[in-house]
Amino acid sequence: MNLKQELIYVPGYEQVVKFTEESVGLVAIIALHNTKLGPGIGGTRIYPYKTFDEALTDVLRLSKSMTYKAGITQIGVGGSKSVIITDQKTPALLHAFGEAVNTFNGQYVCAEDIGCTPKDVEEILKHTKYGCGVYNLRGSGNPAAFTAWGTLLAIQAVLQELDGSDSVEGKRIAIQGIGNVGQRLAESLFWRGAKLFISDIDSDVTKRYAHAYGAKIVSPEEILFVECDVLSPCAMGGIINTTSIPHLRCRAIAGAANNQLLHYTDADLLKEKGILYAPDFLTNSGGLINVYHEILLEGYNATKARTMTNGIYAQTLSIFELAQQNNLSTHQAAISLVDHRLEHGIGKPAEEFCFRFFNVSEEAKVID
Ligand code: NAI
Repeated sequence: MNLKQELIYVPGYEQVVKFTEESVGLVAIIALHNTKLGPGIGGTRIYPYKTFDEALTDVLRLSKSMTYKAGITQIGVGGSKSVIITDQKTPALLHAFGEAVNTFNGQYVCAEDIGCTPKDVEEILKHTKYGCGVYNLRGSGNPAAFTAWGTLLAIQAVLQELDGSDSVEGKRIAIQGIGNVGQRLAESLFWRGAKLFISDIDSDVTKRYAHAYGAKIVSPEEILFVECDVLSPCAMGGIINTTSIPHLRCRAIAGAANNQLLHYTDADLLKEKGILYAPDFLTNSGGLINVYHEILLEGYNATKARTMTNGIYAQTLSIFELAQQNNLSTHQAAISLVDHRLEHGIGKPAEEFCFRFFNVSEEAKVID
């Protein structure tokens, strides 16, 4: 193996490294944004980016938002992310990426993300021990169920704030993206009596879920602009921006998609328009909370992961209160809170605290 490394200097980031291994077609970037509160856990996005710069922009944006997600949950981990530029995933490429992960000696811990399944993480873990979100006997599996559960709690928190009741019964909820998270969210909302509007670029998916949950199908072009109580973006980032905001007809936004705001200042525009925004990095933190429990010394415990995820409801309400007290947008209130914690090391694990990592080869048989 001939793994080449190239440091990329980016102000405000601890370490950004490009890795190439020509014989297996690996071109990857690992970005550590901030590990002041602990090692960075961040998914590996595998995607055929058109240019290297596009991949770099994505990994920088995503790793920074992981710092805020980790900081808001106070679980003692930091912010990082990685991308692999390819549409040709092979075991050899994933193994080479595992070697790249190893070079950080545990300061970077990989996990699943778009294009990278828990099975792929298991392949990566044949060459490094620093990964999580797998399906073996110590694993926590796909984090989407926890992400969807946290998103439901954030939706309930915005309804509590707006209407003084967190019941979703009869509320109009519009979900953009019926994928891993959106499907689970739609199901939970259906059983709680919500009136659903759903949209996906895959029309087979929307037909199936509209049938199962009595939802109204809305085209991808229109879903953001549906008149509803809560808009729940569960697909792409950057969709809340100066172009879309004037046309929004929701009372609140609470969804799982990362980086929903194109620019931080878009949160001020939402505030001016009277749309309550649940910060995305808090709303979708359930998945991170779940994989974090996988690498605790005591071993994965789903009940503990659920209890901590349940905290998203109260945290969302406390962010709304902080924003109101300081006349800030809800997004800015959440950012300021995490910046304060980073500055003072609040949420850093105790000295003796450490995570456990195992090689997959030393592990119990994969169960899925
Ligand atoms: P996914 O890839 O399973 O689902 C996304 C869905 O959105 C797909 O069905 C896709 O067809 C659809 N989609 C794409 N563009 C669309 C558009 N313009 N209009 C309507 N639908 C569109 O992804 P997953 O796992 O459900 O994640 C959803 C979002 O939540 C992503 O932004 C992801 O980064 C974020 N997230 C997911 C976590 C997880 O645990 N899966 C954790 C934290 C964040």
